[in-house]
Amino acid sequence: MQKVRFIAGGILTLAIAGCLVVGGHSLSQKAAKPSNTISTTTTSTANTTATSFNKQQYSLTDPTSIWVIANKTHPLNPKTYAPNLVVPTIPMRSNITGDERQVGKVMAGPLETMVNAAAAQGIHLNLQSGYRSYSFQVSLYNTYVRQQGQAAADTQSARPGYSEHQTGLAADLGGTTSPACNVAQCFDQTIEGKWLAANAYKYGFIIRYPADKEGVTGYEYEPWHVRYVGVDLATEMHKQGIETLEEFFGVSGGKVYK
Ligand code: DAL
Ligand code: ZN
Repeated sequence: MQKVRFIAGGILTLAIAGCLVVGGHSLSQKAAKPSNTISTTTTSTANTTATSFNKQQYSLTDPTSIWVIANKTHPLNPKTYAPNLVVPTIPMRSNITGDERQVGKVMAGPLETMVNAAAAQGIHLNLQSGYRSYSFQVSLYNTYVRQQGQAAADTQSARPGYSEHQTGLAADLGGTTSPACNVAQCFDQTIEGKWLAANAYKYGFIIRYPADKEGVTGYEYEPWHVRYVGVDLATEMHKQGIETLEEFFGVSGGKVYK
């Protein structure tokens, strides 16, 4: 099914469309290191094979934490949160402006490292959309609603105060070989999208909205949207074969706003 994806301040791209959760965990750890407290019900069987990975290292609720979980069940607190920002030194789409050129300071270095590593292998990634302020997300979300109606908009665009882009820890990445597939589900068929899917975890990123996980994450497949969680967590998720933060931590999510 084809869907029109409006992204980034009015740029229109086509997206070929592309799924709840699990238990409870208590979301509330410290930003830098403390204890989890989102309510969760840890039913995860995958964890039985887990090693000694410490799931309490960072907060799941503090918006400054690299493990913060923002989904339709867990808004940012406060909803108007704004991170420290910087413009990363990586290629960007030509008409990118304002908020979206920036990313959280915490994530800029790892993002540059990943993009440079890809470039060294002949894979040229670029930034399609980085940070989005609360007010930017108001405007973007309203554009989706105007164009598609609220139900469809909610499958693709987070409501203000609920978007990972507002944390500065998320980035939409595109490539140069198939511009029509930038910010579209066919990105996973491009050499850049394939590289990202295979290698992002090595640099601390996950594909935050995997295919067939709308019931968990609340959003359709977005092969272009990476989320920085740090190398330790991304590597552990990769090792355990767990794709989503909700499933890994046993935190609620889903398609319905609560
Ligand atoms: N497209 C993602 C879900 C966002 O709007 O943050
Ligand atoms: Zn995104």
